[in-house]
Amino acid sequence: MAKVAPSILSADFSNLKEEIISLEQSGADYIHIDVMDGHFVPNITFGPPVIKAIRPHTTLPFDVHLMIEHPDRYIEDFVNAGADLISVHAEACTHLHRTISLIKSYGKKAGVVLNPHTSIEFIKHILGDIDLVLIMSVNPGFGGQSFIPNTINKITELNKIRNEQGLNYIIEVDGGVNEETSKRCINAGTDLLVAGSFIFKSKNREQAIKVLKHDY
Ligand code: DX5
Ligand code: ZN
Repeated sequence: MAKVAPSILSADFSNLKEEIISLEQSGADYIHIDVMDGHFVPNITFGPPVIKAIRPHTTLPFDVHLMIEHPDRYIEDFVNAGADLISVHAEACTHLHRTISLIKSYGKKAGVVLNPHTSIEFIKHILGDIDLVLIMSVNPGFGGQSFIPNTINKITELNKIRNEQGLNYIIEVDGGVNEETSKRCINAGTDLLVAGSFIFKSKNREQAIKVLKHDY
């Protein structure tokens, strides 16, 4: 069964503690945390202090998606703030293997994110070294955008490589995930679905998470 990581980008920021508790009670598997620096993406969100503030309010793992330049400079801060899984953009890392090794040196899970235009080929030689690949199905920066259909081909390719090579990275998808697109992602081999607006706009979060998993 696929897992769901609600993105708190769509949460009520004035009420983050209650939002996190509500997501845990609604059956979320992870909390997806979107960190944006206004350079790598055209938007700014929050950083380690906010993550540290919400950390005591849930036992769910924190899936931290870094949309920032020079992520190496801040990995230790995100570890100390309570990140469990840290994903960096392949496009933002000149020495991606070094960055992955740094994350793993703290005993944390390391993920690599690919923008919609970035080929799987770009990370082919480090697939055996990472815990997760996050496929962006929108251009990162904002919630509420439409799913880019070609994403499905990338998931299929990643799933094929995983099977052929006996690897075990998690395949995660982020952006425009709803009832219809989640089904296509799951069928292509996705393990972990990120969803912001679909969950936060729903009247019943528990039901929304079940709908995304196609578990009814
Ligand atoms: C976009 C973020 C996403 C975003 C998804 O840059 O990485 O995690 O919150 O939002 P929805 O599900 O609304 O597309
Ligand atoms: Zn994200």
